[in-house]
Parts: sequence; structure tokens; C-alpha cells
Amino acid sequence: MVELCVLYDKVRFEEKSIYDKALKKGIKIQMTDAKNITVTTDSKRKELALGDVILQRSISHFRGLYLTSCLEFLGFPVINKFKVGETCGNKLLTSLTLAKHKVPTPKTHFAFSSAGAMEAIDGTGFPVVLKPIIGSWGRGVFPLRDDEVANMIFEMREEDDNPLGRIYYIQEMIQRPPRDIRCIVVGDDIIAAVYRYSAQNEWRTNVARGGKTENAPITNELEEIVSRAAKAVGGGVLGVDLMEDQQRGLLVHEINNTVEFRGASNVSTVDIASAIIDYSVTVLKR
Ligand SMILES: Nc1ncnc2c1ncn2[C@@H]1O[C@H](COP(=O)(O)OP(=O)(O)O)[C@@H](O)[C@H]1O
Ligand SMILES: [Mg+2]
Repeated sequence: MVELCVLYDKVRFEEKSIYDKALKKGIKIQMTDAKNITVTTDSKRKELALGDVILQRSISHFRGLYLTSCLEFLGFPVINKFKVGETCGNKLLTSLTLAKHKVPTPKTHFAFSSAGAMEAIDGTGFPVVLKPIIGSWGRGVFPLRDDEVANMIFEMREEDDNPLGRIYYIQEMIQRPPRDIRCIVVGDDIIAAVYRYSAQNEWRTNVARGGKTENAPITNELEEIVSRAAKAVGGGVLGVDLMEDQQRGLLVHEINNTVEFRGASNVSTVDIASAIIDYSVTVLKR
């Protein structure tokens, strides 16, 4: 019988749901704190009692990513794969991958100095959206509407110690309704889709920012674009996020590698944790 291992650094609703549901289904599962694992170049898989299939659920992008590379080195199957985490955890790599695979996505400029960033904006005009290339929960995602604020933020970024602050990811602002769409993808299936409506006095629609969810229909158009997006980044258990552009229709703006589904669970009739478990136990057979 396959034993699952949920790696966490902080137990959220999602990790708890997966663990509780596995127990209910009679599936062997352990919860292990990623912070307590060490690996060496001489380590052997059998020395680490981490079951047969690992669900990497660390909140910290870097912890999850580099621990996954160590675990794959030892031969563990990890959901999601290192390569998937590397692409999805980085908005610049995600945008390039989506564009390469011709998945509709907002037009995005990449600049490598504040002057370059200003030049990009001069070409397109305001408003634009500036995002950190690594980050989540809407942190540091700024709608920029004029030179004054843009210059101040660029100045802050140039002076900050974080070298990633000097990588500028500048996206066209999509004229969308006050919502976006979160799709939960498990393997080849889109198991749930929800609208996320932004909270009052908030432009971002993240549930972490108080966004409210509502069931969304899984139309053919949505299904087609989401499955192409998921395949483009390498598949697995993913949260594919889209915006509805008035003219162009659906655009994928982000793919989450450690998908949160608390908001979707509240409204979806599908048991998301259960679907993730069913997929995980069959991953060895794929
Ligand atoms: N180009 C854009 N146009 C309009 N709204 C956007 C745009 N980019 C992001 N947003 C809003 O900001 C939210 C957070 O941006 P996102 O790229 O998903 O970053 P994060 O990884 O922090 O969630 C999105 O869910 C959406 O509501
Ligand atoms: Mg997002």
C-alpha cells in the first residue's frame, strides 16, 4: 500500500484537509516538517522515512523548491516536480513558458534596471501592474498609475537588499470585472473553478486579501486554456489563475505550485483534498 507524505513548514487548512481525508479513506499518510529534514550527497532514500510519494506543501518557495531538488536526487517522486515548482514559483519564468506555448497571457515587460523599467512604461503608458517575480498572496503586486509613484517604488527597490527587486516584471493592466478565476487542476482534470471577488477597497482578488469565492462554470474555453497552461508548465497539482479581458477573453496570469483551495472548498461540490489524494496514490503507476 502506498504511503503518502505531506511536507509542510506551517500547517494550513489545505495540509490538514489532505491529512484528515487520507485517514478517512484508509490511506497511509504522514505529516513531516520540512524544516527538520537534512540531506547529504551520500544520503540514501531508505534512510529517510518519507513514505512512497511526497506532497511538497511548504509555504516558503525556496525551502520547498530546494528540498524538492534534494528529494528528487534521492529518487522520491515529489508532487510537484522541481521543474514545475521552479517555473510556477517565478512569475517571469511562468510568463515566458506560457508565451512560448501560445497560452493567452497578459503582455508583460521584463526590465533589469529602474531606467529600463521606466522605458518599458514610456512605451505602453500607465496604468501597469508591477509584481515581484517571486511572491504570493498579492504581496508587492502594485497597480502603477503615474510616474511619481512608479519612481518612488523603483527607488525603494533599487535601494533594497533583495537582488530580485532589481528584476522588473511589468504587466499591462487588464480591464477585468472585479474578480478573477481560480482553477484547481489535478493531473489531467480541472476539478474545480471559482470566481474570486476582491474585498471592499481592495483591487487584488486573492482570498488571502479577503477575496470571496463563488462557483464558476467550467466552460469549454476555460477547460481548453487551463489544460494547455497546466501542460506547458509540466502538470501535477496546480492552481491556474485567469483574468477575463473585455476584448480578448480569458488570459492566464499565474500558476500556483502549492495551490491553496480553502476558498474553492467553501463553494465547490467537489472534494478537492480527496482528488489530490487519489491522484497522489496513482502517481507511481504513471
Ligand atoms: N495585470 C493585471 N491586471 C489586473 N489585475 C491584476 C493583474 N495582475 C494581477 N492582478 C490582480 O492582483 C492579484 C494578485 O496578482 P498575482 O499575479 O496573482 O500575484 P500573487 O502571486 O501575489 O497572487 C490577482 O489575483 C488579480 O486580482
Ligand atoms: Mg495570484
